[in-house]
Amino acid sequence: MTDPVTSTTAAKKVTVPMVRARKRSRGDQPIVMLTAYDTPGAHIADAAGVDVILVGDSVANAVLGHADTLQVDVAAMAHHVGAVGRASPRALVVGDMPWLSYHVSAEDAVRNAAVLIRAGAEAVKLEGGRRRLAVVEALMAAEIPVMGHLGLTPQSVHAMGGYRVQAKSTPAAEALMNDAKALAAAGCFAIVLEGVPDVVAGRVTDEVGIPTIGIGAGAACDGQVLVFHDLLGLRQGAPAKFVRQYADLTAVAVTAIASWAADVRGGSFPSEAETYHLPPEH
Ligand code: KIV
Repeated sequence: MTDPVTSTTAAKKVTVPMVRARKRSRGDQPIVMLTAYDTPGAHIADAAGVDVILVGDSVANAVLGHADTLQVDVAAMAHHVGAVGRASPRALVVGDMPWLSYHVSAEDAVRNAAVLIRAGAEAVKLEGGRRRLAVVEALMAAEIPVMGHLGLTPQSVHAMGGYRVQAKSTPAAEALMNDAKALAAAGCFAIVLEGVPDVVAGRVTDEVGIPTIGIGAGAACDGQVLVFHDLLGLRQGAPAKFVRQYADLTAVAVTAIASWAADVRGGSFPSEAETYHLPPEH
């Protein structure tokens, strides 16, 4: 829509149907999805023009210092979804369903997803394929859009025996393909493919009618997702092979804070201009 005063064109709010329609095979641009977990992060991601903000359960590792994503529950996710939602981003806000919030029953899953929707999510994401069909169908029946997540699913870390690239054998690649087709048929609007060989991700992308969004899944997917703190260099330790780090914000922040500490210790902070004074008659 064009503003009649400024003649600038406001970018349109990204919706679930807009994301569902995006396939590179139809000439569409790749979908750009980034995680964010709080209001400043959502503002930054939105100002950079991402299409989708995922409030991922990776908040457990990236922000809360846990070793895996199993440590966050629905209340913790709702807390972060709310913070992102209050930024009112143009990007679509997807809330991650944490471990055990959709594994007990479909009814439980709908109630838990509703908590994330009321907190500010416009869709939810959950991990797993055919064994999640009843849950996906129940969510669809409750008008809650669902993004699937296949391949290296971090909530299955113990079942997988660690964070390992998945679908490397022919039977495993076939199973992944069948899971993707089943999720698409059940009504998912997109599927994250994590930690799978590029050829396998490419075949899935070619054969399902909904977009695939890759992370460690090669260049053939319909979109890409990265974790905010990985992309910006706000993590400790070496990043995974699939991460491209575009900035070293840890170094920028350390330099800024060290400069302030030196000013405090040297007596040059606060200055006159940074100080409140009583009015002159006092
Ligand atoms: O929680 C998360 O950040 C995710 C992405 C890695 C897709 O699920």
